[in-house]
Amino acid sequence: MADKDRYLARLIVAALLAFGLGACAPQDPAKEPTSGAKGTGMNKKSLGAKTLPTAPVWAVGTYDRAGKPNVMTAAWVGICCSKPPCVAVSLRKATYTYGNIMARKAFTVSVPSEAFLKQTDYFGLVSGQEVDKFAGSGLTAAKSETVDAPYVGEFPLIIECKLLNSFELGLHTMFVGEIVDVKADPAVLGPDGSLDAGKFKPFFFDPGSRQYFGLGEPLGKAFEAGKGLVKPAGPAAKQP
Ligand SMILES: Cc1cc2nc3c(=O)[nH]c(=O)nc-3n(C[C@H](O)[C@H](O)[C@H](O)COP(=O)(O)O)c2cc1C
Repeated sequence: MADKDRYLARLIVAALLAFGLGACAPQDPAKEPTSGAKGTGMNKKSLGAKTLPTAPVWAVGTYDRAGKPNVMTAAWVGICCSKPPCVAVSLRKATYTYGNIMARKAFTVSVPSEAFLKQTDYFGLVSGQEVDKFAGSGLTAAKSETVDAPYVGEFPLIIECKLLNSFELGLHTMFVGEIVDVKADPAVLGPDGSLDAGKFKPFFFDPGSRQYFGLGEPLGKAFEAGKGLVKPAGPAAKQP
Protein backbone atom coordinates (compact mmCIF):
# COMPACT_ATOMS: atom_id res chain seq x y z
CA MET A 1 0.00 0.00 0.00
CA ALA A 2 1.36 3.43 -0.91
CA ASP A 3 1.91 6.02 1.84
CA LYS A 4 -0.95 8.09 0.43
CA ASP A 5 -3.35 5.11 0.61
CA ARG A 6 -2.25 4.24 4.16
CA TYR A 7 -2.91 7.85 5.22
CA LEU A 8 -6.37 7.76 3.64
CA ALA A 9 -7.24 4.44 5.34
CA ARG A 10 -6.20 5.85 8.76
CA LEU A 11 -8.35 8.92 8.15
CA ILE A 12 -11.41 6.78 7.35
CA VAL A 13 -10.93 4.59 10.48
CA ALA A 14 -10.56 7.69 12.67
CA ALA A 15 -13.72 9.24 11.20
CA LEU A 16 -15.69 6.00 11.76
CA LEU A 17 -14.55 5.79 15.37
CA ALA A 18 -15.36 9.43 16.05
CA PHE A 19 -18.83 9.56 14.43
CA GLY A 20 -20.12 6.13 13.45
CA LEU A 21 -19.11 3.65 16.16
CA GLY A 22 -19.35 6.23 18.96
CA ALA A 23 -23.06 6.61 18.19
CA CYS A 24 -23.58 2.87 18.81
CA ALA A 25 -21.84 2.81 22.19
CA PRO A 26 -24.10 1.68 25.07
CA GLN A 27 -25.57 4.55 27.02
CA ASP A 28 -26.55 4.99 30.66
CA PRO A 29 -30.18 3.71 30.58
CA ALA A 30 -31.17 6.62 32.80
CA LYS A 31 -29.98 8.99 30.09
CA GLU A 32 -31.59 7.06 27.24
CA PRO A 33 -33.86 9.27 25.21
CA THR A 34 -37.57 8.49 25.56
CA SER A 35 -40.13 9.31 22.91
CA GLY A 36 -40.79 13.03 22.65
CA ALA A 37 -39.48 16.06 24.50
CA LYS A 38 -39.73 16.61 28.23
CA GLY A 39 -42.35 19.05 29.47
CA THR A 40 -44.82 18.23 26.69
CA GLY A 41 -46.19 15.12 28.36
CA MET A 42 -44.58 13.07 25.57
CA ASN A 43 -41.56 11.81 27.53
CA LYS A 44 -43.11 8.39 28.06
CA LYS A 45 -41.05 5.27 28.73
CA SER A 46 -42.15 2.15 26.87
CA LEU A 47 -42.90 -0.72 29.25
CA GLY A 48 -43.79 -3.20 26.51
CA ALA A 49 -47.10 -4.91 25.83
CA LYS A 50 -48.49 -5.52 29.32
CA THR A 51 -51.72 -5.62 31.32
CA LEU A 52 -50.85 -2.83 33.72
CA PRO A 53 -53.82 -0.57 34.45
CA THR A 54 -55.81 -1.19 37.63
CA ALA A 55 -58.87 -3.40 37.20
CA PRO A 56 -62.05 -3.97 39.22
CA VAL A 57 -62.14 -7.08 41.37
CA TRP A 58 -65.16 -9.31 40.83
CA ALA A 59 -66.15 -12.80 41.97
CA VAL A 60 -67.62 -15.01 39.25
CA GLY A 61 -70.16 -17.55 40.53
CA THR A 62 -71.02 -20.81 38.74
CA TYR A 63 -72.38 -24.31 39.31
CA ASP A 64 -70.37 -27.29 38.14
CA ARG A 65 -71.95 -30.22 36.28
CA ALA A 66 -72.85 -31.89 39.59
CA GLY A 67 -74.47 -28.71 40.90
CA LYS A 68 -71.68 -27.76 43.32
CA PRO A 69 -71.44 -23.96 43.64
CA ASN A 70 -68.10 -22.32 42.91
CA VAL A 71 -66.73 -18.80 42.86
CA MET A 72 -63.48 -17.38 41.46
CA THR A 73 -61.80 -13.99 41.55
CA ALA A 74 -61.47 -12.18 38.23
CA ALA A 75 -59.99 -8.82 37.39
CA TRP A 76 -59.96 -8.97 33.59
CA VAL A 77 -63.58 -7.87 33.63
CA GLY A 78 -65.87 -4.97 32.86
CA ILE A 79 -69.15 -3.62 31.55
CA CYS A 80 -69.07 -4.02 27.77
CA CYS A 81 -72.50 -3.03 26.42
CA SER A 82 -75.41 -0.85 27.56
CA LYS A 83 -78.15 -2.27 25.33
CA PRO A 84 -78.56 -5.11 26.04
CA PRO A 85 -76.68 -4.53 29.30
CA CYS A 86 -73.67 -6.86 29.25
CA VAL A 87 -70.53 -7.65 31.18
CA ALA A 88 -67.36 -9.39 30.00
CA VAL A 89 -65.18 -11.67 32.10
CA SER A 90 -61.97 -13.12 30.69
CA LEU A 91 -61.01 -16.50 32.07
CA ARG A 92 -58.28 -19.04 31.42
CA LYS A 93 -59.35 -22.48 30.26
CA ALA A 94 -57.47 -23.93 33.24
CA THR A 95 -59.99 -22.47 35.70
CA TYR A 96 -62.81 -24.66 36.97
CA THR A 97 -65.14 -21.74 36.28
CA TYR A 98 -64.38 -21.89 32.55
CA GLY A 99 -65.83 -25.40 32.22
CA ASN A 100 -68.77 -24.48 34.46
CA ILE A 101 -69.77 -21.54 32.26
CA MET A 102 -69.41 -23.66 29.13
CA ALA A 103 -71.68 -26.33 30.66
CA ARG A 104 -74.29 -24.10 32.31
CA LYS A 105 -74.29 -21.09 29.93
CA ALA A 106 -74.73 -18.76 32.90
CA PHE A 107 -72.74 -17.01 35.61
CA THR A 108 -73.10 -14.34 38.24
CA VAL A 109 -70.80 -11.53 39.25
CA SER A 110 -70.70 -10.79 42.97
CA VAL A 111 -68.94 -7.47 43.48
CA PRO A 112 -67.18 -7.39 46.84
CA SER A 113 -66.75 -4.42 49.12
CA GLU A 114 -63.46 -3.76 50.95
CA ALA A 115 -64.75 -5.68 53.97
CA PHE A 116 -64.54 -8.91 51.92
CA LEU A 117 -61.02 -8.43 50.56
CA LYS A 118 -59.61 -11.47 52.38
CA GLN A 119 -62.31 -13.87 51.14
CA THR A 120 -62.12 -12.46 47.61
CA ASP A 121 -58.37 -13.01 47.48
CA TYR A 122 -58.93 -16.57 48.73
CA PHE A 123 -61.35 -17.19 45.84
CA GLY A 124 -58.39 -16.50 43.53
CA LEU A 125 -55.89 -18.66 45.39
CA VAL A 126 -57.59 -22.05 45.24
CA SER A 127 -59.66 -23.93 42.67
CA GLY A 128 -63.18 -25.27 42.96
CA GLN A 129 -61.82 -28.40 41.37
CA GLU A 130 -60.21 -29.25 44.71
CA VAL A 131 -62.05 -27.29 47.39
CA ASP A 132 -65.46 -25.94 48.30
CA LYS A 133 -64.66 -22.21 48.44
CA PHE A 134 -67.97 -21.27 50.01
CA ALA A 135 -67.29 -23.66 52.91
CA GLY A 136 -63.66 -22.48 53.06
CA SER A 137 -64.58 -18.80 53.24
CA GLY A 138 -67.64 -19.18 55.45
CA LEU A 139 -69.70 -17.22 52.91
CA THR A 140 -73.09 -18.22 51.54
CA ALA A 141 -73.80 -19.68 48.10
CA ALA A 142 -77.15 -18.06 47.33
CA LYS A 143 -79.20 -19.51 44.47
CA SER A 144 -80.01 -17.03 41.75
CA GLU A 145 -83.69 -16.80 40.89
CA THR A 146 -83.02 -15.76 37.32
CA VAL A 147 -79.99 -17.70 36.06
CA ASP A 148 -78.44 -21.12 36.61
CA ALA A 149 -75.61 -19.88 38.84
CA PRO A 150 -74.99 -19.05 42.51
CA TYR A 151 -73.83 -15.75 43.98
CA VAL A 152 -72.09 -14.70 47.18
CA GLY A 153 -74.95 -13.83 49.53
CA GLU A 154 -72.90 -11.45 51.70
CA PHE A 155 -71.50 -9.32 48.82
CA PRO A 156 -73.36 -6.04 48.31
CA LEU A 157 -73.85 -6.05 44.52
CA ILE A 158 -74.86 -8.99 42.34
CA ILE A 159 -75.05 -9.17 38.55
CA GLU A 160 -76.91 -12.18 37.14
CA CYS A 161 -75.98 -13.13 33.58
CA LYS A 162 -76.85 -15.59 30.89
CA LEU A 163 -74.05 -16.41 28.47
CA LEU A 164 -74.42 -14.40 25.29
CA ASN A 165 -71.15 -15.06 23.52
CA SER A 166 -67.55 -16.11 24.01
CA PHE A 167 -64.39 -15.02 22.27
CA GLU A 168 -61.08 -16.84 22.16
CA LEU A 169 -58.47 -14.14 22.73
CA GLY A 170 -55.37 -16.19 23.51
CA LEU A 171 -54.62 -17.26 27.06
CA HIS A 172 -58.02 -15.93 28.10
CA THR A 173 -61.50 -16.58 26.73
CA MET A 174 -63.81 -13.60 27.06
CA PHE A 175 -67.30 -14.57 28.16
CA VAL A 176 -69.92 -11.95 27.46
CA GLY A 177 -72.91 -12.25 29.75
CA GLU A 178 -76.18 -10.49 29.18
CA ILE A 179 -77.32 -8.98 32.46
CA VAL A 180 -80.68 -10.44 33.43
CA ASP A 181 -80.90 -8.71 36.80
CA VAL A 182 -78.82 -6.64 39.23
CA LYS A 183 -79.41 -7.00 42.95
CA ALA A 184 -78.05 -4.61 45.55
CA ASP A 185 -77.94 -4.60 49.32
CA PRO A 186 -80.16 -1.66 50.42
CA ALA A 187 -77.29 -0.55 52.71
CA VAL A 188 -75.23 0.53 49.66
CA LEU A 189 -77.98 2.55 48.00
CA GLY A 190 -78.35 6.30 48.23
CA PRO A 191 -81.61 8.14 49.01
CA ASP A 192 -82.56 8.14 45.29
CA GLY A 193 -82.14 4.34 45.09
CA SER A 194 -78.96 4.41 42.99
CA LEU A 195 -75.72 2.71 43.99
CA ASP A 196 -73.67 4.89 46.37
CA ALA A 197 -70.01 4.09 45.63
CA GLY A 198 -68.97 5.62 48.99
CA LYS A 199 -71.11 3.10 50.87
CA PHE A 200 -70.44 0.26 48.46
CA LYS A 201 -66.60 0.55 48.64
CA PRO A 202 -65.51 -1.64 45.69
CA PHE A 203 -61.80 -2.28 45.30
CA PHE A 204 -59.32 -2.71 42.49
CA PHE A 205 -56.36 -4.89 41.54
CA ASP A 206 -53.10 -3.25 40.49
CA PRO A 207 -51.20 -5.83 38.39
CA GLY A 208 -47.97 -3.78 38.59
CA SER A 209 -47.62 -3.87 42.38
CA ARG A 210 -49.97 -6.86 42.85
CA GLN A 211 -51.89 -4.90 45.45
CA TYR A 212 -55.50 -4.03 46.04
CA PHE A 213 -56.55 -0.39 46.10
CA GLY A 214 -59.74 1.19 47.32
CA LEU A 215 -61.91 3.85 45.72
CA GLY A 216 -60.81 7.41 46.50
CA GLU A 217 -62.91 10.52 46.97
CA PRO A 218 -65.20 11.69 44.13
CA LEU A 219 -63.16 13.85 41.76
CA GLY A 220 -65.74 15.49 39.55
CA LYS A 221 -68.99 14.99 37.69
CA ALA A 222 -68.84 12.73 34.62
CA PHE A 223 -70.08 14.31 31.35
CA GLU A 224 -69.70 17.72 33.02
CA ALA A 225 -66.05 18.11 34.09
CA GLY A 226 -64.85 18.46 30.48
CA LYS A 227 -67.57 20.78 29.25
CA GLY A 228 -65.31 23.84 29.41
CA LEU A 229 -63.14 22.30 26.67
CA VAL A 230 -66.03 21.60 24.28
CA LYS A 231 -66.15 24.07 21.40
CA PRO A 232 -69.36 24.61 19.42
CA ALA A 233 -69.23 22.23 16.44
CA GLY A 234 -68.61 23.94 13.10
CA PRO A 235 -70.02 22.58 9.82
CA ALA A 236 -66.86 20.50 9.18
CA ALA A 237 -67.29 18.66 12.51
CA LYS A 238 -70.77 17.39 11.65
CA GLN A 239 -71.26 13.68 11.01
CA PRO A 240 -72.22 12.73 7.44
C1 LIG B 1 -56.86 -10.43 42.08
C2 LIG B 1 -57.01 -11.63 41.20
C3 LIG B 1 -57.51 -11.48 39.92
C4 LIG B 1 -57.65 -12.58 39.07
N1 LIG B 1 -58.16 -12.39 37.83
C5 LIG B 1 -58.31 -13.44 37.00
C6 LIG B 1 -58.89 -13.27 35.71
O1 LIG B 1 -59.33 -12.18 35.33
N2 LIG B 1 -58.97 -14.36 34.91
C7 LIG B 1 -58.52 -15.61 35.29
O2 LIG B 1 -58.60 -16.56 34.50
N3 LIG B 1 -57.98 -15.80 36.52
C8 LIG B 1 -57.89 -14.76 37.40
N4 LIG B 1 -57.40 -14.95 38.65
C9 LIG B 1 -56.99 -16.30 39.08
C10 LIG B 1 -58.21 -17.19 39.45
O3 LIG B 1 -59.05 -16.54 40.36
C11 LIG B 1 -57.68 -18.50 40.05
O4 LIG B 1 -57.00 -19.22 39.05
C12 LIG B 1 -58.77 -19.36 40.67
O5 LIG B 1 -58.17 -20.38 41.44
C13 LIG B 1 -59.70 -20.00 39.66
O6 LIG B 1 -60.73 -20.62 40.38
P1 LIG B 1 -61.55 -21.87 39.82
O7 LIG B 1 -60.55 -22.91 39.34
O8 LIG B 1 -62.32 -22.35 41.02
O9 LIG B 1 -62.43 -21.39 38.71
C14 LIG B 1 -57.27 -13.87 39.53
C15 LIG B 1 -56.81 -14.02 40.84
C16 LIG B 1 -56.68 -12.92 41.66
C17 LIG B 1 -56.19 -13.11 43.08
